Amino acid sequence: MFLGKNLFFVPECHSTNTLLADLAQKTNPIEGTLLITAKQTKGRGQRGNGWEAEPNQNLTFSFLVKPSFLAVADQFKLTMTVSLAVADYLCDRNLDSVKIKWPNDVMVNGKKISGILIENTLSGSQLQQCVVGIGLNVNQTVFSIESATSMKLITDDEFALDYELNFLLEKLEGRYLQLRAGKFAELERNYLDMLYWKGEEHLFLVGGDTRMGAIEGVDRIGKLKVRMGDETHFFGLKEIQFIK
Ligand code: BTN
Repeated sequence: MFLGKNLFFVPECHSTNTLLADLAQKTNPIEGTLLITAKQTKGRGQRGNGWEAEPNQNLTFSFLVKPSFLAVADQFKLTMTVSLAVADYLCDRNLDSVKIKWPNDVMVNGKKISGILIENTLSGSQLQQCVVGIGLNVNQTVFSIESATSMKLITDDEFALDYELNFLLEKLEGRYLQLRAGKFAELERNYLDMLYWKGEEHLFLVGGDTRMGAIEGVDRIGKLKVRMGDETHFFGLKEIQFIK
C-alpha cells in the first residue's frame, strides 16, 4: 500500500490539513504521506465551518495525493473517489443506509458521520497535489449538534482506531487506484448510486427562497443537478442548501 506508508502521528495539532500542507510545502513528501492526530484543536470544514471531534475517540487525519493525471476541471472526480471510499468502508462495517450527501458528506440514517475537506495545489491546468482531510466519528457518543452521529452510536460497539484506520485506508487506496486507472464512468455510477435524496422530492434553499426539487445527478465539474418543476438547474457549493 502506498497510502500511509509514510505516516506521521502528532498527539495534538490545530488541523491535520494545515499541518500536512505546511509539511508538503517544506519537504515535498512522497505521495500517500499521512498525518494523523489524536486531538485536533481547530479542525476545519467546508464553507469555512469547523470540525469538532473529541480527543482519542475519532479518526482525524489527512493524506497527500499527487493526481497530476487529472485536469483542474476534473477535480470533482477526486471528491467522488474519496467520499465513495468512506461510504464503502461504512457499508463493509454493516452500517445501514449509508449515503453521500453532495458534495462529500457521508451520512448514515440521515445523520452526518464523516466530513471530507480536500485542498488542492494546481500546476497550470493540472492538479499538482491535494491534501485530503477526513474526519470520521467513531467512538464519540455525545455531539453538540443533533445532525451528527458516530459508528458507536449506531452499532453500540467500541472500535479500535488503529484497526479501523487500516481498513479505511485500504478502501481509499482501492478507489484511488480506480481513479488513476481512468475508471471514471464506474466511479460516477457508484457515486450516484449512493447520492442522498437522489430522485426524491425535497425542500432546498436557493438564493433566499425555499424550493421543492429532486436531485438528478452532478455535472462534470461537480455542480448539483436538480429538477425544479419543469426546469433543470445546476448549483455550486454555496448556491444551494438542503432543508428537508
Ligand atoms: C466538512 O464536513 O465540512 C469537512 C470536515 C473535514 C474534517 C477533517 S478532520 C481532518 C482534517 N483536518 C481538518 O482540519 N479538517 C479535516
